[in-house]
Amino acid sequence: MPTHTFILNGKQVSVDAEDDVRLLWVLRDLLGVTGPKYGCGLGVCKACTSHINGRAFNPCSVPVSDIKPSDEITTIEGLAATSGQDLHPMQQAWLDIDVAQCGYCQPGQIMEAVALVKEAKAAGREITDADLDGIRNVCRCGTYPRIREAIRQGAANMPA
Ligand code: FES
Ligand code: FES
Repeated sequence: MPTHTFILNGKQVSVDAEDDVRLLWVLRDLLGVTGPKYGCGLGVCKACTSHINGRAFNPCSVPVSDIKPSDEITTIEGLAATSGQDLHPMQQAWLDIDVAQCGYCQPGQIMEAVALVKEAKAAGREITDADLDGIRNVCRCGTYPRIREAIRQGAANMPA
């Protein structure tokens, strides 16, 4: 069985898996990293949203063989460390606004939010209503209004 190596939450990992196994199963079942949730397995619900090299992506839709040794995968478990704080400002905003209901979609929501804000800040602008409207992460519990409020608060506390 082929061995795949990449950087996961700041540490190099190696894992044996067939080339066509999707990265979400490698993370959850082989590496025990269960923050990225399984919803649809098709890149639609966004419950598994994590970061690859700082950008949001859906590991349920990426075969592990597509991941290069130099690729940096960050899941919700590694997000706080990227900010050098105990909690990332976006996680703190989520707590302040008490966003989560059942919580299932929330790791993906937070990872999507951070990537979106980083992209806007890199472009030298603030997050807009259109950015928020463009988020496709599904929440079965309907926490959307609190998610929007938290993203604005988290964005205000993220570095430019
Ligand atoms: S489980 Fe990955 S997008 Fe739905
Ligand atoms: S909080 Fe339950 S699915 Fe979003």
